[in-house]
Amino acid sequence: MIMTSLQTAPAAGFAPAFEPPVIRSANAADSQWIDELQAIAFGPGRFSRTAFRIRERFPIDPTMSLVAECEGVPCGSVWMTPISVDGLNGYLLGPLATHPNFRKRGAGKALARTAMQMAMERADGTFVLLVGDQDYYCPLGFTTTTRGAIQFPGPVDPDRVLLYADDPTLAARLAGPIAAFKR
Ligand SMILES: CC(C)(COP(=O)(O)OP(=O)(O)OC[C@H]1O[C@@H](n2cnc3c(N)ncnc32)[C@H](O)[C@@H]1OP(=O)(O)O)[C@@H](O)C(=O)NCCC(=O)NCCS
Repeated sequence: MIMTSLQTAPAAGFAPAFEPPVIRSANAADSQWIDELQAIAFGPGRFSRTAFRIRERFPIDPTMSLVAECEGVPCGSVWMTPISVDGLNGYLLGPLATHPNFRKRGAGKALARTAMQMAMERADGTFVLLVGDQDYYCPLGFTTTTRGAIQFPGPVDPDRVLLYADDPTLAARLAGPIAAFKR
């Protein structure tokens, strides 16, 4: 059953028991609603965001695009873009978005965790980079980077440039412009 914003909120003390979200690969049939989801989540200004500019230069890896479903209904999405910094291959995570009707059910974190795991299991992936809120991503294992060290093709808030890597020293020392993934 699709929850809508018109449904009555549950009585205090009776939290709805939701099934955990299911994460699956995205397919061609998902393209339109993912586009609509990103428009809802990020608004019309999304195309001017620096992270979107990176994806204009370097295409996403469709084999790493994931969808979250709640009760069989697609509700969230994440993309991964292969990149490199200072000769090291990694992935840019994002956009990550959950439809407002399905938020706070674990879909966003499940998508991020699965994407992080896929990236690190690939022999060519050393890190996952993103621009996002520390409060959301640091509990997942992301850490802050050296301010201004990783150069984006546009303005970013350096406090929001976060990195996940097996090597705990990498976030502090990774530096240079975001470049193409080295094949
Ligand atoms: C951020 C977003 C993906 C989270 O999706 P979600 O499926 O609700 O996430 P989860 O259910 O895994 O986690 C929800 C928890 O994270 C918290 N949270 C959500 N956004 C947060 C943020 N920006 N900073 C800190 N905490 C945040 C929620 O309050 C909630 O806390 P609770 O568990 O204590 O109630 C979703 O709110 C969204 O699409 N936002 C708009 C787009 C966006 O900002 N994307 C992230 C940047 S790439």
